[in-house]
Amino acid sequence: MNDHRIDVSLGDRSYPVLVGHGVAKRIDEFVPTGAKRAVVITDPAIPFTVTTSLPSLVLPIAGGEDHKNLSTIEALCREFARFGLTRSDVVIAVGGGLVTDVAGFAASVWHRGTAVIHVPTTLLGMVDAAIGGKTAVNVPEGKNLVGAFWQPRAVLADLVALDTLPQRELRCGLGEIAKYHFIAGDDLLAVPLDARIARCAEIKARIVEGDERESGQRALLNYGHTLAHALESAGHHDLAHGEAVAVGLLYAAELARSLGRIDDARVALHHRVVRDEYGLATDEQLASASSNGVETLLDYMRRDKKATDGLTFVLDGQRGLEVVPGVDEATVKVALESFFARGVGR
Ligand code: GLY
Repeated sequence: MNDHRIDVSLGDRSYPVLVGHGVAKRIDEFVPTGAKRAVVITDPAIPFTVTTSLPSLVLPIAGGEDHKNLSTIEALCREFARFGLTRSDVVIAVGGGLVTDVAGFAASVWHRGTAVIHVPTTLLGMVDAAIGGKTAVNVPEGKNLVGAFWQPRAVLADLVALDTLPQRELRCGLGEIAKYHFIAGDDLLAVPLDARIARCAEIKARIVEGDERESGQRALLNYGHTLAHALESAGHHDLAHGEAVAVGLLYAAELARSLGRIDDARVALHHRVVRDEYGLATDEQLASASSNGVETLLDYMRRDKKATDGLTFVLDGQRGLEVVPGVDEATVKVALESFFARGVGR
């Protein structure tokens, strides 16, 4: 099968995203000319390794949000120093979104910016996290509050890594893929999974090219995320990110319908993609989402860091998806109540 190549065109920060079986073996093609060493940052729990012909130091980082912090960045940078990593060398991140976020941030600050290559090993990383240059770590006051835009040299989405991906991780990736069905408006269901992953990467690439630093269109990538973030915070992560996004997508459709932006057929399409195609937003997950209570969820949505002007949602409509600030809170509440009350029986 042929590899897919998508170019992210950002002037002198342009790079390719390769999607295919075995593409990680091509890593040496993307190492910067003149690099003499590589640091490979990976989660040791991941049964997927990447080797380069450069002398390499492998640095394991523990999974889990608790380790996504500035102490990990300091520990990594001290290892870089002991290994003698220079600004002309390369950092290679092999793992899910947490690994690429942390390694990307460490690379962005090491000697004020050192090349990084991302090898995402999760579906979510392949279609979203590893592309676009967002890097960050958490502080106790909030997630992803310290970071930088630092575009990678290349993203190698090796589909071999998906063979050993746990089911739940796969579901999370499908939750993010589901949002792309509505962002670009083409029929992603018509193509096989590898082409679908490539198409999602392409959709993301085009959005990042148009709005690298999220002053506009890039926010569309947050479709389904307003409720999802509230569910994750309120439910203490009972629902994993992609699972919460899936519920958030269905709710966003419900809200768009109550605002007269879309019709029943469009809501039904959301259900077909999210539930029928991807098996997400199950009755059990909707019950778990609902058990948080409408008031608690509203409270978390008010705290959303993107909510600069009342409650902000990405909503479907006649012109496709749009960022809609200042959505009336009473409407949000009634739509949430009816969404939970109706459950699957829309
Ligand atoms: N994951 C959303 C973005 O990269 O903008």
